[in-house]
Amino acid sequence: MDRFLGLCRPGFEGDLAAELTVALAEEGVGGYARTQAGEGVVEWVAYGVSGRELLTLRGAPSLQNLVFCRQLAVTGPCLENLDPTDRASGLAGGAPWPVADVLVETPPGPAFAGLERLSKRLAGPVRGALERAGRLAGPRDQKLRLHITLTSGTAAWVGYAPVSLSLEEPGGVRRLRRLAGAPSRSGVKLQEAFLAFLTPTERHLTFAGRPRAVDLGAAPGGWTFVLRSLGAEVFAVDHGALAPELADDPLVIHVRADAFTYEPPVPVDWLCCDVVDKPARVVETLARWLRRRWAARAIFNLKLPMKQRHAAVVDARARFFRTLGPRAEEYTFSVKQLYHDREEVTCYAAPRSAAGPAGARHG
Ligand SMILES: C[S@@+](CC[C@H](N)C(=O)[O-])C[C@H]1O[C@@H](n2cnc3c(N)ncnc32)[C@H](O)[C@@H]1O
Repeated sequence: MDRFLGLCRPGFEGDLAAELTVALAEEGVGGYARTQAGEGVVEWVAYGVSGRELLTLRGAPSLQNLVFCRQLAVTGPCLENLDPTDRASGLAGGAPWPVADVLVETPPGPAFAGLERLSKRLAGPVRGALERAGRLAGPRDQKLRLHITLTSGTAAWVGYAPVSLSLEEPGGVRRLRRLAGAPSRSGVKLQEAFLAFLTPTERHLTFAGRPRAVDLGAAPGGWTFVLRSLGAEVFAVDHGALAPELADDPLVIHVRADAFTYEPPVPVDWLCCDVVDKPARVVETLARWLRRRWAARAIFNLKLPMKQRHAAVVDARARFFRTLGPRAEEYTFSVKQLYHDREEVTCYAAPRSAAGPAGARHG
């Protein structure tokens, strides 16, 4: 075990590799990244550091603090030449440490699309082989999850991640359905953001009563629809038209105004924004809302059509805190490329005391 294996959206391998390199350099760990464009997987090989050390580095890169990472494990080299008549024994044999759970997944690139059925079939037999060998142990808290990442019918990486820092969905993919009646598919991005950034308790508390929300760039209303489904009253800001069912909703106030100059009539609980514009302009606008206490917390998208996406996120983070000025200490800022994000990332800014599962690590 001498490397990290990270999964990402195909096409974003260079961004994840850059993030890993920067994060590990800060820990004094040198190494190199191996990627193939479009495969959605990054193998980052460390020089002279053991797997145990990689797992326990204090500031180690983790799923929660890597923007472009869907799933992250510490592994050895890819196991080749598995016996197709008994893959489970070979895979379990390559997993020396006890684990609480087993996940078999594939990189998301199209080259691996045919392996999904095999990966579903393999988890049970691998669990069985580990159980027979006395290496499957609960309880799940604070334990390791075995990540088997198949690259063909006879090859796989076998790695580990703490259960608390790994997603139980194979490939780290939270596939969500559009809510019935939603006017656009965009709403799934906001649904996923609430799952990724807030604990169930925080979701409950922040939507208790009838919170007020502003949705900048709301039309046709996918995000507004999600906010309404959670019980919020929404100021939907857009020159464009809202879907009829939202336009007729008495708890949706359609404001035909510019997202960058609009001022709310009262402070709101939630500020959301899905406007397509320069990341710098969006992040500075949203940070100004928080600085003026016009909103308590914010979820917003940054579009990243440029080549240097990792650098654009670093710049956005710095702008966010710079714009907050004296209030910078009061907020956490989490950024993640969610499964439903395309050439974009989703940001969550929250009061420091209320950071969610990912937020706690992003201050
Ligand atoms: C990607 S769409 C938003 C989709 C929406 N979140 C949904 O779920 O249906 C971007 C929206 O931002 C609006 N927009 C772009 N620039 C704007 C601005 N300066 N002020 C207000 N709205 C703007 C566009 O009219 C468009 O409706």
